[in-house]
Amino acid sequence: MAAIGSAIGLGNLWRFPMVAYENGGGAFLIPYIVALLTAGVPLMILEYALGQKYQKSSPGSLREVKPGFEMIGWWALGIGASISFYYAVIMGWCWDYLIYSFTQPWGDAPEAFFHSVLRLSSGPGEVGGISWPVLAGLAATWISIYWIIKKGVLRVGKVVMITVPLPVLLTLFILIRGLTLPGALEGIRYYLTPDFSALLSGKTWLQAYAQVFFSLSLGFGILTAYASYLPKRSDITNNAFITSFADAGFAFFAGFAVFSILGYLAQAQGVPVGEVVTGGPSLAFVVYPTAISLMPAAPLIAAMFFITLLTLGIDSAFSIVEGVVSGVRDKWRISQNGAAAGFCTFGFLVGVVYTTGSGLYWLDIVDHWMNNYGLVVIGFLECIAIGWFFGTKKLRAYINEVSDFRIGWWWDLFIKWLTPLALGWALVANIVEELSVPYEGYPTWALLVGGWGVVAVIIILAGVLTGLPWLEKKEGE
Ligand code: PHE
Repeated sequence: MAAIGSAIGLGNLWRFPMVAYENGGGAFLIPYIVALLTAGVPLMILEYALGQKYQKSSPGSLREVKPGFEMIGWWALGIGASISFYYAVIMGWCWDYLIYSFTQPWGDAPEAFFHSVLRLSSGPGEVGGISWPVLAGLAATWISIYWIIKKGVLRVGKVVMITVPLPVLLTLFILIRGLTLPGALEGIRYYLTPDFSALLSGKTWLQAYAQVFFSLSLGFGILTAYASYLPKRSDITNNAFITSFADAGFAFFAGFAVFSILGYLAQAQGVPVGEVVTGGPSLAFVVYPTAISLMPAAPLIAAMFFITLLTLGIDSAFSIVEGVVSGVRDKWRISQNGAAAGFCTFGFLVGVVYTTGSGLYWLDIVDHWMNNYGLVVIGFLECIAIGWFFGTKKLRAYINEVSDFRIGWWWDLFIKWLTPLALGWALVANIVEELSVPYEGYPTWALLVGGWGVVAVIIILAGVLTGLPWLEKKEGE
């Protein structure tokens, strides 16, 4: 349940529907399912198996494979940590908007209002002032995360019993509300109309793989950490299939809710659906508020929507933190509470950067780098470590011993060849594109600092942590 909570996050609600729409609509389901089965599921089985077999999180279990591989684990946690720093800021906006829901101060200029809440400056070079509401929201997020994980995974287990089903239920309500509005069907038609020619473009397939990785929370050491808490004989294959299909199913379903409302907005404004479609933050904080203001019972629906975002996000956010905390606790003798308090305070302090006027720009840059390089590189390295050094047969024997559903030689083929090839190809294609067009037209220095700079810091830190000695807990401590 916790792994499903980690997987189902903001990405399902605002990333999947947009990526699908831009890459062939209904036809996108084909590359998406292919990516899910050829990369998502095999790698998830691998991450679960590692954690469960060695009862350690990512650095510790990769160290068992080969001591130097510990670094891959820290690298994964570093990427996760830097994602959590801005993910918490986005959730901070959600807290603010939850409060605004009751009075809807965005009026008829939601975009200008969003920018004024953020105190948005003119570019990454102009730092601007701190936005106090965002800072308060950020504090609320970190306090919640700390409260949930300070006592360890038992509390996590209880919290996810609420934060996983609740947003699904709320999304269902939003969908029902959406479908009863005029224009909804037009929106859905827009979402699903298949454009099979998109399948001929390499970009569509790349996007499908990237979306699968981000959405399944692969490559951040999270699933390995969660699996390390399971008894050694728990079923791995079943868990991997359930997590993957629950995540993909919710993403597809969320698309109906999103596009029914977009259809309604388009109709109300008398423009084609294509003109109201946007991805990323503006979908949640500009387009949706606009649509909601037009509906009867707007405050209620708005509050419901932001509670959905908060409950979707919180279990993804604390899963990253728990991944890091359990990695640190495997290596050093430190209490759960101490590690959690330390990490949450640090996360809050780093997050202050994103609460300034230039915050949104930095968030955008870091997000792009982490997702395009971080995750794909880690997935690739994990495949190499297991496929070429540890041996897929050996790990598969363990997986099959504890799982109901036995996996065959196909899994070896994927981990050794197909998955790393697909990821390597994605990586090269990304880098070529990066070097040819500067991302979103940002100045080069900003991309060097927020993009390559952050990546370099993470790699160096991972190396340093790997070099430090282990001061493990004694048995039973
Ligand atoms: N899987 C989450 C989503 O779809 C995102 C996430 C990324 C969660 C990284 C944890 C770690 O939104």
